[in-house]
Amino acid sequence: MDALTCLKTRRSIRKFKDTPISQEIVDDILDCARKAPSAHNYQPWAFIVVKDRDQRQALSQVQPWASFIANAPMCIVLCMSKTGADFSPSNYLSIACAGENILLAAHAHGLAGCWTYVKDFNDPEPEKMAREILQVPEDVEIIAMIPIGYPK
Ligand SMILES: Cc1cc2nc3c(=O)[nH]c(=O)nc-3n(C[C@H](O)[C@H](O)[C@H](O)COP(=O)(O)O)c2cc1C
Repeated sequence: MDALTCLKTRRSIRKFKDTPISQEIVDDILDCARKAPSAHNYQPWAFIVVKDRDQRQALSQVQPWASFIANAPMCIVLCMSKTGADFSPSNYLSIACAGENILLAAHAHGLAGCWTYVKDFNDPEPEKMAREILQVPEDVEIIAMIPIGYPK
């Protein structure tokens, strides 16, 4: 699929087949994510690949519009480091770029996904819950979860 077709045909998908995703494809999606542009070239991201069923089930409950995470073969959790001199509010925009790369790379591989929020500047609860589920330290923010699978 060429880049423009990929951009124009991507859409959010919330129903997935059980078909597992090969590690080679997962690695390629993460490689595309880390090649996103970033403010100051800080590359402030960290990605957690969640395949475990119980963890996906728990993540699907952290906010009301994420239930389908339970039924995706995997979920990539987008995180942002906020330690030291590398912190800049622009880092949130850099994470968004990485997230879009994940969605587009998944689509290019015949997969599909949907951005689901964790970071809510008016409600700390989703991030607090996701932090407990994944044991993420306090100096790393959790921004979003992207369930991915072959579309149903
Ligand atoms: C920052 C952000 C947060 C989103 N949060 C959710 C969400 O929590 N649950 C969900 O089902 N979709 C979520 N979406 C997906 C949007 O609903 C979707 O992108 C939009 O309706 C346009 O549809 P499309 O992606 O198919 O073009 C989110 C998208 C963005 C960019």
